[in-house]
Amino acid sequence: MIKKVGIIGSGTMGSGIAQVAATVGCIVKLYDTKQVALDKSKAALEKILNRLIQKGRIDETEKERIQGNISYVDTLKDLGDSDLTIEAIVENLDIKQKVFSELETYLSDDAIIASNTSSLSIASIASSLQKPERCIGIHFFNPAPLMKLVEVIPAIQTSQEVLEKATQTIADWKKVVAVAKDTPGFIVNRVARPFYGESLRIYEEGLADFATIDKALKMLGGFRMGPFELMDFIGNDVNYTVTETVFTAFYFDARYKPSFTQKRLSEAGYLGRKTGKGYYDYDENGKKIENSNVTSSAVETPQDVELSRQIFNRVLAMLINEAADALFLNIASAEDIDNAMTKGVNYPKGLLAWADEKGIDWCVKTLDDLYDEYHEDRYRCSPLLRKMNRVGTKFFN
Ligand code: NAI
Repeated sequence: MIKKVGIIGSGTMGSGIAQVAATVGCIVKLYDTKQVALDKSKAALEKILNRLIQKGRIDETEKERIQGNISYVDTLKDLGDSDLTIEAIVENLDIKQKVFSELETYLSDDAIIASNTSSLSIASIASSLQKPERCIGIHFFNPAPLMKLVEVIPAIQTSQEVLEKATQTIADWKKVVAVAKDTPGFIVNRVARPFYGESLRIYEEGLADFATIDKALKMLGGFRMGPFELMDFIGNDVNYTVTETVFTAFYFDARYKPSFTQKRLSEAGYLGRKTGKGYYDYDENGKKIENSNVTSSAVETPQDVELSRQIFNRVLAMLINEAADALFLNIASAEDIDNAMTKGVNYPKGLLAWADEKGIDWCVKTLDDLYDEYHEDRYRCSPLLRKMNRVGTKFFN
């Protein structure tokens, strides 16, 4: 098992990753350019571990062991003896490249350098290294200690040995690995786009309000949060930026087109829970104020039931299409695509398994009906679904 781990950036993600590595027994060095960020990270870990003690999950000895495994350092050179370094600093290619090329001068020849980037290509980050074959993407989800999934992304330069070591390490860290191709959004941030995008579109067409759409996806789909609740939770600025980045990176494929509704909310500073206002209103504790923005009546008419089904079917078919197309384009295996969505964003079912359950013919028909109605490229059905429907196969047997 890899023992010495360096982490660059002690913000939200770096701190969470440090906790994960320290918990499984790695010796972790956490580096940040800002002393306040290191202090904040240390204090946050103390608070988290105390909460775990209160809940009876760990005892005082375990807390001390975890804390003892992390040291906070203020020069990059201190990470020189790391076998694996994971970078989690600002999402800026220039800065990441500079940090990577400096770091490499301190490391041993077989040390691995990983980036936790959500939106930059691993190939572009790796290109800053003398030995680009040692670079890989290791993408955690927030909060890292709680979310089971980690996407591992080999760049075209990455060696097979580095891929195997990284995959093994993440499994040693008791996480579920999904290996993804180095393409925009990897698996989760690509496949999840219609959850937000199609819901926004349904709202923009005036078919339903936020609360009705959220309710349909929670009640009929079993999603823990509705899309608007989730966008408010993530932050409309953050979620909008991911969509825009994916849209641009896919050469403006209509399937990923961002929404003006979300853009305006973001511009207005209605970012969601963190600002007290988004699609819904929130109190000072970040709790949703019930009935905010609800216009639908409490009693469900047959028309309401029909509308809910229509909303759910439309969003689900679009999500399935995205998952099927990711498989079609060899972004990841069917198992990894389904694991990614259940373990990375808590979907109630894997989308490909869901497609099998609904029937491939249902998926194709729902998408084709949308395409017939709108004649927009965003509703084009993946060739894989069409072929499977013709041949009569399923994703899993
Ligand atoms: P953050 O803003 O919470 O933390 C970034 C930290 O990096 C700050 O403490 C900052 O002082 C430090 N930093 C900046 N430049 C530095 C440098 N040159 N050397 C050392 N430290 C430096 O950011 P967050 O949210 O933790 O994101 C970090 C990375 O993780 C980004 O690449 C982001 O795309 C990715 N990511 C973020 C997720 C999220 O939900 N926040 C989820 C998955 C990936």
